[in-house]
Amino acid sequence: MKRLAVLISGRGSNLEALLGAIQRYGWPIEVACVISNRPNAGGLDIARSKGIPTEVIDHTQFSDRSAFDNALIHRLEAQQPDLVVLAGFMRLLTAEFCARFRHRLVNIHPSLLPAFKGLQTHQQAIDAGVRIHGCTVHLVTAELDHGPILAQAAVSVRHDDTAEALAARVLKMEHEIYPKAIAAWLSGQLTVEDDRIIDRGEGAFPTGFMSCQLHPDLA
Ligand code: GRF
Repeated sequence: MKRLAVLISGRGSNLEALLGAIQRYGWPIEVACVISNRPNAGGLDIARSKGIPTEVIDHTQFSDRSAFDNALIHRLEAQQPDLVVLAGFMRLLTAEFCARFRHRLVNIHPSLLPAFKGLQTHQQAIDAGVRIHGCTVHLVTAELDHGPILAQAAVSVRHDDTAEALAARVLKMEHEIYPKAIAAWLSGQLTVEDDRIIDRGEGAFPTGFMSCQLHPDLA
């Protein structure tokens, strides 16, 4: 059984999708703990309702980023996770943290990286006039929104799109690809070479999953 620690800051819809997929597909994966840096994160209730241990490490109670990250490292190491999953965790992590969990730290970012890093990615996409937008699952490095890419999904950008409407379509795809990319990475059949994910095995990805997915309106 592979152990996950999931870090959240907000509503936790990706956490919910992950828990649903683990149950639906019967993967040998368990969410050992959910840690939030915000006491009122909605995702904490989702975890509690499934009987998953939760913890709040409130970043406002720490003098600086490194003190907060050290506390987080301490709590995570006690859990011995195979993988630390960032699921809407809205804190920049120190280089020390990223190094400690090198290749054991995964994130989903709501854009087709390397385009549109940072925040307000859907508005960035609309402002840039791109016709295709999406989301990216990647291993985390010390550089913001960067690291070997495990999976991406694309959605079309409509002429009358608002950031909210576009975000909703991207989120649907996030829920599709994030759990499957996590399962694929945990399968141990993927490797990292020159900052890229290489798939040398057969069937690293769960049945019916490709590391590149299209929203139904593009298919
Ligand atoms: C998602 O859009 C994710 O891509 C971004 O933060 C959001 C988290 O949403 N990193 P949720 O808390 O999983 O609902």
